[in-house]
Amino acid sequence: MKMLSQEQIDSLVRQLSGVVRDEPMSKHTNFRIGGPARLYFVANDADHLVGAVRNARDAGIPWFVFGGGSNLLVSDEGYEGLVIQSALRGLKVDGAGVTCESGVITALAARKAAEAGLTGFEWAVGIPGTIGGALYGNAGCFGGEMKDVVETVDAYRVVDDARVTYANAECGFGYRESRFKREPHVILSCTLRLATGDTAAARRCMDEIIAMRKSKQPLEQSSAGCVFKNFEFADESQLDILRRSVDVPGAMLKNRRISAGWLVDQVGMLGKTMGGIQVSDRHGNFVVNTGGGRAQDVISLMSLVKMKVRDELGILLEDEVQLVGF
Ligand code: EPU
Repeated sequence: MKMLSQEQIDSLVRQLSGVVRDEPMSKHTNFRIGGPARLYFVANDADHLVGAVRNARDAGIPWFVFGGGSNLLVSDEGYEGLVIQSALRGLKVDGAGVTCESGVITALAARKAAEAGLTGFEWAVGIPGTIGGALYGNAGCFGGEMKDVVETVDAYRVVDDARVTYANAECGFGYRESRFKREPHVILSCTLRLATGDTAAARRCMDEIIAMRKSKQPLEQSSAGCVFKNFEFADESQLDILRRSVDVPGAMLKNRRISAGWLVDQVGMLGKTMGGIQVSDRHGNFVVNTGGGRAQDVISLMSLVKMKVRDELGILLEDEVQLVGF
């Protein structure tokens, strides 16, 4: 980690009003883990957000934008650069279109859409974090995914310093994937296209989703949601070792996606502890901070889980959680 010079820090503090120093990231992550951001700035509108990135770039300072901190693991040493939180909270319903800025809480957008009599976004009540994060990772749960509802995304494209609007097909969405993960962008807002529905039915659907999540996932504990992506396979020969060892549920074979939590469960890792960090004893894809946990312990525990799943079941799990400052 290259330390920022005092000159770089002073210059950014002069240019960016409201920037603070040494902000503990543990205050801003659902994991409640993470050392200090050397510089930290909360952006309330798109111009401030883009302006902060330009200031950092011009001063040669590494920068990183986040929304809700629900899918982040920040290192114990923190981040030697500028961390920018998107607090752009604008939300507007126009007919069946819902325009949300990147800092809107995703579950709140789901509720607002339902209140406006729209349907198709109820599943998002089960997604932690903000719309920006949800777009970045093409978040999904209970059968829905951002890619099914996004019409356009407005972003700042870093490579040519341009504000751009992408149509859905240009966003490169895949399972927990988007072009925003592959090419540096700052997501500013999006418009979702929903259908006309019924508020009472949408509320019932959201209640069911919340109840389902509570019954399966350790929501009362600090975590970053699912830490691994589910394993997608193109052809069943990739499952040879797995199928020799265990019976794979038919639904997973049909969806061509093996639940990472189920795999972790099969290798007996539920409840496994390292320092203040534990693989949840309720869902194998949740790693929880039981108190005073360190990022280093999360990494070690995730590595151990990956090794066991690879050695015993022949499957290499990939991280879903976003690592910052490592
Ligand atoms: N299962 C086990 N043991 C476990 C975990 C799961 O046997 O420890 C079994 C379950 O009983 C079920 C199956 O595995 O039969 C699938 O589990 P679940 O329904 O919990 O779904 P998942 O595939 O593990 C995915 C998403 C979640 C999302 C849920 C609900 C990923 C990586 N995970 O989990 O998303 O909430 O479906 O739709 O895609 C996230 O992305 O952060 C996340 C939590």
